Amino acid sequence: MKDRNVGDVEPVSVTRRAVLGTGAGAAATTMLPLPIRADAQEGMVPPSSLVETGTTIRIATTVNSQFVEIDIDSRASLLDMLRERLGFTGTKKGCDHGQCGACTVHVDGRTALSCLTLAAKANGRTVTTIEGVAAGDTLHAMQRAFIDHDALQCGYCTPGQVMSAIACVRQRQATSKDSIREFMSGNICRCGAYVGIVAAIEAAASEMQEG
Ligand code: FES
Ligand code: FES
Repeated sequence: MKDRNVGDVEPVSVTRRAVLGTGAGAAATTMLPLPIRADAQEGMVPPSSLVETGTTIRIATTVNSQFVEIDIDSRASLLDMLRERLGFTGTKKGCDHGQCGACTVHVDGRTALSCLTLAAKANGRTVTTIEGVAAGDTLHAMQRAFIDHDALQCGYCTPGQVMSAIACVRQRQATSKDSIREFMSGNICRCGAYVGIVAAIEAAASEMQEG
C-alpha cells in the first residue's frame, strides 16, 4: 500500500494538518492542470456522450467542481484515473481489492470504493475526493475533528476515513457509537485509531447538523 519505495526520498516532516489537508496542500503542488470547459455545469453530460474509440474511451465528469474531459482505458479504475491521470493523490490505494476503504470517494454524493469503480462509470457524474471537501484554506468540520481528536497516526487511511465519515453524518447514521462503528466498518485503520475516529465523527456530527 505504498506510493513509493521506502528509501527513495529524504524524510519529510509532515504535520497532521498537512495530512488532513491533502486536498489543500499536496494537491496544490502535485495536481495537474485540468481542462475546464467554459460552459461546464455539474452533471450536464448524459451517458450517451461516452464515445468509444477502441479500448480508449472519452468521458466527461466533474471532479471537485472542475469539469474534466479525458481519454482513458476502458478498463481503468476510477482510483487510477484520479491518482495517475488527474493528480488527485489524496485518495489512497491500500488493497486495490475493495477491502480496506482507503480509496473511498463520493460519486453523486454517495460513497464509492474507487478501486472497484470503473472510471467510465464517472461519465456524467460528480466525483468528490478528499481534495474537494475543504473550502480553500478552511478545513471541513470533519477534517478539523480528526485533528482535534487524534483520529490518525500514519494518516494513510485518513482520506478514506474522512470521506466515509462525512457520508455517515449526511446519511444520519452518526446517531450512536455503535451506529458509527457499523457505518465505518469498511474503513480499516492499521494504526488502530478507531477510538479517536468515532469521537471525531460524534463531534463533527453536531457541528455539521447545526450548520
Ligand atoms: S484500495 Fe482498499 S478498498 Fe479500495
Ligand atoms: S492512521 Fe495509520 S492506517 Fe489509519
